[in-house]
Parts: sequence; C-alpha cells; structure tokens
Amino acid sequence: MKSLYVLKKETFIIILSAIWLSLPTLSFALPNSDFTHTEQGIAYPKPNYGISTQRALIEKGEYLAKAGDCIACHTDTQHNGTPFAGGLGIKTSVGTLYTPNITPDKDTGIGNWTDEQFLKAMQQGIKPNGSYYFPAFPYPYFTKINRTDLLAIKAYLFSLKPIHQTVPANAPLFRWHFLALGWRFLFFHSGEYRYEPHQSAEWNRGAYLVQGPGHCGMCHTPINFMGAAKEEYFLKGSIVDHYYAPAITSDALKNYTVEQIAAVFAKDKLLTGGPVKGPMAEVNNNSLKYMSPDDLRAIASYLKTVKSKLAPRKPNKLGSDTGKKIYTSYCATCHNTGAAGAPKIGDTAAWIPRSKQGTNIILQHTINGIGSMPPKGNCVSCSDQEIQATVEYMLEHSITTQ
Ligand code: HEC
Ligand code: HEC
Ligand code: HEC
Repeated sequence: MKSLYVLKKETFIIILSAIWLSLPTLSFALPNSDFTHTEQGIAYPKPNYGISTQRALIEKGEYLAKAGDCIACHTDTQHNGTPFAGGLGIKTSVGTLYTPNITPDKDTGIGNWTDEQFLKAMQQGIKPNGSYYFPAFPYPYFTKINRTDLLAIKAYLFSLKPIHQTVPANAPLFRWHFLALGWRFLFFHSGEYRYEPHQSAEWNRGAYLVQGPGHCGMCHTPINFMGAAKEEYFLKGSIVDHYYAPAITSDALKNYTVEQIAAVFAKDKLLTGGPVKGPMAEVNNNSLKYMSPDDLRAIASYLKTVKSKLAPRKPNKLGSDTGKKIYTSYCATCHNTGAAGAPKIGDTAAWIPRSKQGTNIILQHTINGIGSMPPKGNCVSCSDQEIQATVEYMLEHSITTQ
C-alpha cells in the first residue's frame, strides 16, 4: 500500500511539474511570436536529382516540402541567408529561438540523420538525442504526414547542396528542451492522417494538405493560454503578427465558390476583393503558389466542409478598465469628436453597420489601420490584446442592444 501511495504521489508531482514547466513556453506560442520574414517568396534552390530512379522521389519531396513551407522558417531571410540553412530568429518574450540548418551538411545540418531519426523529429517532435522540440516547429501538424511522404521530403532535402552553417545559440530558456515536455504531455496528439472512406478522394487530399503539411491551423485556429490550438475551434480565426487570420470554415466560406477560394492562394485575392497581405502573402509565395490547381481546389473544397464551434465572444482578461484607459489616452481625440470621419463613441447608428462585419474584422481594421484611422490608433506600444480590450470598450459604449 505504501509504495502505491508513493507512486501516486510521484505521478501527481510529475503532472504538476509538467504543467508548471510548460508555463514558460506559453508566451512562445508561434502565432504570437514576432516573425519578420519577407512577403516575396524565397527562390528555391535546384536539387541534384542524381540517378534517374531517384528523380521521381526527389520531385515528390520537393513538392511536399513546398506544401509544408519549410523554406519560410528554415531560411534566415533577415540576413539574406541560404535557403534551408536555418538561423532565422523567432523572437518571443522569453528570448530568441533559432531554426536549425536542415541541409545535408554532416556537421551543422542533418546530413548524418537516418530515416528513423527524421521520422521521429517530424512525427513525434523528438530530437535524435532524445530531447523535445518546441512547438514553434509545426510537428503537431507534421505528425499527420505519412511516412512515404516524409521520406520523400528527406530525399529532397538530402539532394540539396550541404551548407556548413552553425546557427546562433538559443536564448537560455530554449536550451532546456525538457521544458517542452509539459506542453507535449498536455496538448500533443501524434498520429498520421487517417483516410475518411465515406468522403471523396478530393476531400481527403484537401484535408491531408490542410491538417498536415499546410499547418493552416497554426495561424487560423485560436490558441489557448499555453499556445496550443483549440481543436474545437479549428480554423475559426486567430491573430498572428498583428494580422487577423480569418475564419476559413464552412460558415465563413459558404458564400464563396471553390474557384474564389483557390484564387486567394493562386492570385493573392482576398475573398472580399483586396490583395492578400502579411503572413498569408508569404504562405502563398513560398508554398501555395507551387501547388497544382487540383490540390488548391481540394483544399478549397475541404475548407468549405469544416464545421467547428463558434469561438466564444472573447472574455478579454484585460477588461474594460484597460480599455477605458487606452481609449482616453489614444483614441478619444478622434472618436469623441468624430474627427477625420471617425465613428463617434456612443453613436449607435454609426456603429451598427460596422458591428455587422463581426468583432474580429473590426479588430483587424483597428490593428492594421483603415482609411484615415492609423494602425492601432497610434498606440504603437499597445499589444493586440490591449487593442482588443479597447475595441470592446468602445463597442460596449456604442451599441446598447445587440
Ligand atoms: C513555422 C516554422 C517552421 C516550419 C514551417 C517548419 N519548421 Fe522545421 N523547425 C522549426 C523550428 C523552430 C525548429 C526547432 C525547434 C526546437 O529547437 O525546439 C525546427 C526543427 C526542425 C528539424 C530538426 C532539426 C534539428 O537539427 O534538430 C527538422 C528536421 C525540421 N525542422 C524540418 C522541417 C521540414 C521538413 C519542414 C517542412 C515540411 C519544416 N521543418 C517546417 C520551425 C519550422
Ligand atoms: C503564417 C500564418 C498563416 C498560415 C500558415 C496560413 N494562413 Fe491563411 N491567412 C493568414 C492571414 C494573416 C490571413 C489574412 C490576410 C489578409 O488579411 O491580407 C489569411 C487569409 C487566408 C484566406 C483568405 C480569407 C479571406 O477572408 O479572404 C484563406 C482562404 C486562407 N488564409 C487559407 C489558408 C490555408 C488553406 C492555409 C494552409 C494551407 C493557410 N491559410 C495558412 C495567415 C496564415
Ligand atoms: C487620427 C484619428 C483616429 C485615432 C487616434 C483613432 N481612430 Fe479609430 N477610426 C478613425 C477613423 C477616421 C475611422 C473610420 C475609418 C474608416 O472606416 O474609413 C476609425 C475607425 C475605428 C474603428 C472601426 C473599424 C471598423 O472596422 O469599422 C474602431 C474599432 C476604431 N477606430 C478604434 C480605435 C481605437 C481602439 C483607437 C485608439 C487605440 C483609435 N480608433 C484611434 C480615426 C481614429
């Protein structure tokens, strides 16, 4: 009995420490981290196709690596770095994490990796030395990519020129890879994509690309306080790098055709007409523009069937006090007076048509600026959450019946 008790206590302590240890990684959730790469695509290097029997495999891997947008994170675009040689600094509030070199260099890249080591990294998020990766590496999505496809990606990476480049050391916290253990324990579900036999082949292809290599949920799914995607709100919209990545589920897309949705990817045309900007422009230029028209149609058709719960209307932790303070200091100059055509606070008639866009779109406009309204209403130091609290404050004081 005694030993059982000890065991239980230990298990309990492990669970508690797992939760505790994952706390530092919470600010590390990728969608809130500060990414600064370029909107234009990065030029892909030419693979060495080697002997003719390998060519088909490498080409397949090249296509899938494009679908996975590996180049975007594994290239140090801030310093004109070589594609796939890593070194891109992902800034977070707890320091910088650098992406590894994934060229086949034997000293500084992955040139010595076996197939099994590569699969374990991609599907389990475990390093060859047994430590754990942080979820800024989208392995929670890549776990859905099947072995055959992953080995094709590996063949492609191994066909590239090895680049000898050591990436800078991570911030101290990120050297403690065991910190990622708690996060995994709580949020990581591994497993390859399972074909849905009652759905069409096109639907399955779209689902595979979206859930696996495309890791669309990394930006389009709301995250919890520890940076993990909330599955029940899959693709219901989230904020990434001060951009609103809108909902792309069946509800949001019901008025648009498959062609219109595919045009977002191939022609940089938002559903509402304007040009695609920010992080999505990068995704298009590094990844989706290389996909075949059939695959883009498959993605669009699948998205049109995704049903998720409506994310609850945000209890913003900061509350209306924060909102009121920021409003008074930064927004009142225009919104108390209606200067420059700003909708006046309290003027219900002016706010009702705007509220019909949905809070999320209003928030996106406020963060990025719209018309004569400057980005974040000139409060450069305001976080996205603070702006959200302020917008909520303004809406609460302008729209009485809803
Ligand atoms: C959103 C950014 C992002 C994307 C997209 C991405 N990676 Fe990574 N990757 C990372 C980060 C960050 C790490 C390091 C994580 C850590 O150190 O905990 C990493 C680590 C790796 C590693 C481990 C390397 C080592 O030396 O330990 C491999 C292999 C890898 N990625 C391959 C890929 C492939 C293949 C793709 C495309 C299918 C890809 N990555 C797409 C961010 C990304
Ligand atoms: C790095 C973050 C990121 C990733 C990854 C990402 N998106 Fe986006 N997406 C965005 C952002 C931000 C926008 C809004 C762009 C804008 O307003 O200009 C967007 C816009 C869109 C739109 C246009 C919606 C509209 O209302 O016009 C569609 C459709 C879309 N994304 C689908 C996808 C799909 C499918 C994937 C995966 C293959 C994906 N996105 C991956 C960030 C991302
Ligand atoms: C320099 C004047 C100015 C300041 C400062 C300003 N705004 Fe605005 N705001 C405007 C104007 C003008 C519009 C109308 C823009 C349009 O629809 O073309 C607007 C529109 C808005 C909207 C409606 C957006 C929509 O989608 O319809 C919100 C919400 C908003 N502002 C919030 C804020 C907040 C929050 C602040 C302070 C952090 C702020 N504004 C500061 C001028 C300003």
